[in-house]
Amino acid sequence: MRKKTGFFALFCMLVGAAALPCPGFSLDEKSVSTLSTAFPVETGTRSGVLLAQKPEGPPSYAAVAGILRESCASCHSGRRPAGGLHLDAYGPMMKGGKGGPVIVAGDPAKSELIRRVKGTSTPRMPKGGPPWLSPEEIGLLEAWVLAGAPEGK
Ligand code: HEC
Repeated sequence: MRKKTGFFALFCMLVGAAALPCPGFSLDEKSVSTLSTAFPVETGTRSGVLLAQKPEGPPSYAAVAGILRESCASCHSGRRPAGGLHLDAYGPMMKGGKGGPVIVAGDPAKSELIRRVKGTSTPRMPKGGPPWLSPEEIGLLEAWVLAGAPEGK
């Protein structure tokens, strides 16, 4: 039983950035501070992941929509979105652009959208940057993709 709790704690710490639900395990102060060090995120900002005592579930599309609207939709929307990719609505975004899907649910490293904002695939996005997305914004996008890129409510 002890061992199981330990595993849960470790699991939750590892996936804490994705704010996955941790049934039967609530974060104590020490794990919250460990988490904050491992995944530094500003709380209270528009893109910040709130390190809630009781995680409510994986981040949903709503959690990343603001970032995309603010930094990407100026080019990736309308009748002729850049690269054929809409980033202003969930459905069209999941369909992808001229190169195919840009999000591989559960696999940030294989997701072209993540590679573009990190610059591991070029041209880096948002095109014309810097400024690029902040590490917190990139982290939130990665956490969302890792969680399966759910649309949520
Ligand atoms: C100033 C305009 C502009 C902005 C802002 C911009 N992009 Fe782009 N994006 C482009 C253009 C142009 C292309 C096509 C050029 C290319 O891929 O070589 C593109 C291509 C892409 C592609 C590849 C699409 C495909 O299927 O080939 C991805 C993914 C992408 N952008 C993601 C983003 C994300 C995420 C953001 C916001 C963080 C963003 N872009 C912001 C202009 C922009």
